[in-house]
Amino acid sequence: MTALLGILGILIAAFVSPCSGFNVSQIPRNKRQYGSYRKRLGAYLQHAESIYREGYHTFKGGIYRMTTTDGERVMVPNKYLDELKAQPEEKISNKKALVLAAECRYTGIPVETTFLNHLVRADLTRNLARINPRLYDEVARSVKTELPQGKDWTPVVINERLLRIVAMVSGNAFLGPDLCRREEYLHASIRYAIDVFAAVRALKRWPKILRPVAQYLIPELGRITDHKKRAKAFFLPVIQERRARMKRGEEVHEDDMLQWMLLKSDSFNIHDDAELALQQLSLTLASIHSTTVTATQMIYDIVARPDIIPVLRQEIQSAVQEQGGVMNTQALFSMKVLDSVMRESQRMNPLSMARFSRYVEQPVTLTDGTRIPANVIIEAPFFAITRDPELYPNPEQFDPYRFSRLRSGLSHDPIGYKSPEQYQFVAVAKENLNFGFGRNACPGRFFAANEMKLILARLLLDYDIKMPEGRTERFENIVIAGGIVPDTKKEILIRRV
Ligand code: HEM
Repeated sequence: MTALLGILGILIAAFVSPCSGFNVSQIPRNKRQYGSYRKRLGAYLQHAESIYREGYHTFKGGIYRMTTTDGERVMVPNKYLDELKAQPEEKISNKKALVLAAECRYTGIPVETTFLNHLVRADLTRNLARINPRLYDEVARSVKTELPQGKDWTPVVINERLLRIVAMVSGNAFLGPDLCRREEYLHASIRYAIDVFAAVRALKRWPKILRPVAQYLIPELGRITDHKKRAKAFFLPVIQERRARMKRGEEVHEDDMLQWMLLKSDSFNIHDDAELALQQLSLTLASIHSTTVTATQMIYDIVARPDIIPVLRQEIQSAVQEQGGVMNTQALFSMKVLDSVMRESQRMNPLSMARFSRYVEQPVTLTDGTRIPANVIIEAPFFAITRDPELYPNPEQFDPYRFSRLRSGLSHDPIGYKSPEQYQFVAVAKENLNFGFGRNACPGRFFAANEMKLILARLLLDYDIKMPEGRTERFENIVIAGGIVPDTKKEILIRRV
C-alpha cells in the first residue's frame, strides 16, 4: 500500500508539476537517496543528519532533491537565498508551506501572520526597553517560585521548570502581570502547542489520501478545538472590560500585546474579538516551546562546560554594576560572552535540520539560469551549514567564545560580514538560519533573546548549577528524522548560592 502511494506520489510530482518543459524529476538526488520511495524514506528516518551533510557537500553549488518524512524537498544552497527571499509571496510562498507542514486543512491553525508579525516588530520589540523592568521582576519572581530555594544540591528537571518560567515571563508581556500567572493561561500556553504538534504528527502518519478520514480518529484534533473555545472564554471578558474602559475614555494603564492588539485590530481589519483570543493562542504557539527548548539546550551546554560559569557570572555582575545595579537592556547587550554561548549553543543544536521552507507557486529561473519548477517545497540544509568548516572552523567543537572573539575582532571572520555584529545571537544571515530568513524571519527573536538572557543571568547569579553526580559529558539530543530536541526529562543539580 505504502509503495503504491509512493509511486503515485512520484507520478503526481512528475506530471502534475511540469513547468515550461522542466520538472522536478530532472533535479538530481544524492547517492543515499536512490532507490524506491520506501528505501529513501527509511534512509532519511535513520540517517537524516548524514544525508543532509552528504547532499550539502556533493551539491554545494546547486539544487538537489531528497525525500523526507514530509514528502519530497528541493534543497537550495546558500548562494540562492538572497534571490529567493526577494521573490513575492505569490511566487515563493511561506504561507502555503506552513499550511502543508501544519496540516491546516485539519488542524485549522491560522497561518495568517501579518498582524502578529507587525505587533511583535512594531510594538513588542520597540517597547522592550520600556517593559524590561517588569520582565526582570517577573523573571525574579517566577525563578523563585519554580526553582528550589534550599542550599543543598537538588535534582531538577530543568526543562519542566523553564516551561513555566518562560510561559509566565512571556505572558507578562503578552497579557500583563496579573493574568500571566493564572493557571488556566499557563496550562493553555504550554499545552496548546503540545496538542498541535501531536495532532500534526498523528496526521502525518497517515497517507495523504486517507487523512480526510483519519482526522476523525485523532483525539488531539478535538483538543485543539477545546483550546480555542477555552481561549475565547478566557480572553473575551478581559477584552470586553478593556474595551469598555477605553470607550468611557478612562485611562488604560495596560502596556502589553493584548492592549496593542486592541489598539490596532481595526487597522488590520479584525473586527471580531474572538479572533484576538486566537491570535493570543497563536502567539503562545510561536513563542513558548521554541524559547524553552532553546534555553534548555543552553543550560545543558553550560553545565557541560563548568569552566564558563564563573566567566559568565563575572560578566553579568560587571554589566549590571556598570548600569548602576540595574539589569536593563544596555546591561544585557554588554553580556557578550553570554550572547556568544547562546549563539554557539543554537549553532550546535538547531531545532531542525532544514530551514527556509517555502512552497514554489510559480516556476522560478534564477540569475545563473538554475530553474526551480512550481509545486515543490524548497528548503535550505541548515544543519549542514552549521557544520561547514569553511564557515565555522572546527565546527564539531562547542566553543563558547567563538562569537565573542569574532565580535571583538580577535578571530579572523571566515564569512567576511560587513559588520562583526552579524555574529550577535539575534542576527539573521544565510549562514545562521536559526530564526529563518527573509521577510518571515522570526520577529520575536529580540524578545526571545532578551527573555533568555534575563533568565540565564538570574539563574547564574542566584544558583549553582551542575551535571548530575558522576556525569561530565553533555546530555545527548534526541533526533527524530530531521528534528533535533534536547532530552527534556534530564535532571541537573541546583542549589541557591
Ligand atoms: C528561541 C526562540 C525562537 C525561535 C528559535 C524561533 C524561530 C522561528 C522560526 C524559524 C520562524 C520561521 C521563520 C522563517 O520561516 O523564515 C519563526 C517565525 C515566527 N516567530 Fe519565532 N522563534 C522563537 C521565538 C519567538 C517568540 C518569542 C515570538 C513572539 C514573541 C515569535 C514569533 C514568531 C512569529 C509571529 C513568526 C511568524 C513570522 C511570519 O510568518 O512572518 N518567535 N520563529
